[in-house]
Amino acid sequence: MKTVIVKMRDGIDEAGICRAGEILRSGGLVAFPTETVYGLGANALDAEAAGKIYRAKGRPSDNPLIVHIADWDAIRKIAIDIPAEAKRLADAFWPGPLTMILKKSDAVPFATTGGLDTVAVRLPGNAAARALIRAGGGYVAAPSANTSGRPSPTKAEHVVQDMDGVIDMIIDGGDVEIGIESTIVDLTDEAPTILRPGYISREMLGRVLGTVEVDRALTSEDESLRPKAPGMKYRHYAPRAQLFIVQGTQRQVREKINELAAANAAAGRSTGVIGTDESREYYANALVKSIGSRQDESSIARHLYGILREFDDSEVSVIYSEAFDTPQLGQAVMNRLIKAAGHQIILCGI
Ligand code: TXA
Ligand code: MG
Repeated sequence: MKTVIVKMRDGIDEAGICRAGEILRSGGLVAFPTETVYGLGANALDAEAAGKIYRAKGRPSDNPLIVHIADWDAIRKIAIDIPAEAKRLADAFWPGPLTMILKKSDAVPFATTGGLDTVAVRLPGNAAARALIRAGGGYVAAPSANTSGRPSPTKAEHVVQDMDGVIDMIIDGGDVEIGIESTIVDLTDEAPTILRPGYISREMLGRVLGTVEVDRALTSEDESLRPKAPGMKYRHYAPRAQLFIVQGTQRQVREKINELAAANAAAGRSTGVIGTDESREYYANALVKSIGSRQDESSIARHLYGILREFDDSEVSVIYSEAFDTPQLGQAVMNRLIKAAGHQIILCGI
């Protein structure tokens, strides 16, 4: 299949959106930018179209898709028993990086929800995404536009790497703003519960809803607990090189990584380091990449997935990453990084 790439870096190209909408309405696949990561879209109300997403990504069929809408009123067709909390959250955070789990209506096929009787709904903050959703009929199922098991795409080039020749169209909107997938909050349980941390933090949700729980499977050491978002049970992404997170004071971490890198070099193994603008000059014997600045935590979230992809294109056999427990985004960043590292953490000073 020939994949058409349409550039929309400087605003919306109406003709391109119109063509993309036709593809979606006739059951095809279009990748598009959102404010979080690139999505791989299909008509959410068409079981066959949704099925194509699973095949293009190599995604397990029990992992449900998020349905993207372009305005609040669209929610009534796909969800039932919508609680008052949903409107309050929408007023506070939509359009934006928040996904709500609600009871699904009969309009949504089980192919889209991975067999569940709930549906994930999001109204994205990116204007081109909303234009595409409207052109495509109003309901676009979209997981992140990566091959299953690779990091989510944060620029169109990443989508091209994974999806060229596999899908009908890629809309190139340049680099995304946030770089980490949306916060998922479940409103079908007794108390609102975070199933996946993201840019909208627990504190931000709490200001609107009062108490907000966090799915215990996200933080517990008990591996028998199953995450309530089926996708969270998958490792998601294992870099080609072994990845370790090194935790401790800034000084301990730098010394530990240098010690390990020197030992690797002596053994003929090459080392990669994920540091920051502030720390990168302290490291030796390694390929050092800066993820961003600790003064600007959004830069760390934005570059995480891209840096992991870059290391896959290098020759390093082991990567050490600093920990990034920053105030607002730290939870989301560390959730993704710990999964990529397969929970391999080196604690300094213990
Ligand atoms: O920021 C985002 O949310 C991006 C952009 C493209 O919007 N999308 C995204 O989709 O991250 P995906 O498919 O990569 O992740 C969706 C997550 C999975 O962990 C899935 O299991 C969970 O949402 N999910 C979807 N529907 C659900 C449901 N009904 N109940 C519980 N979890 C659900
Ligand atoms: Mg994903």
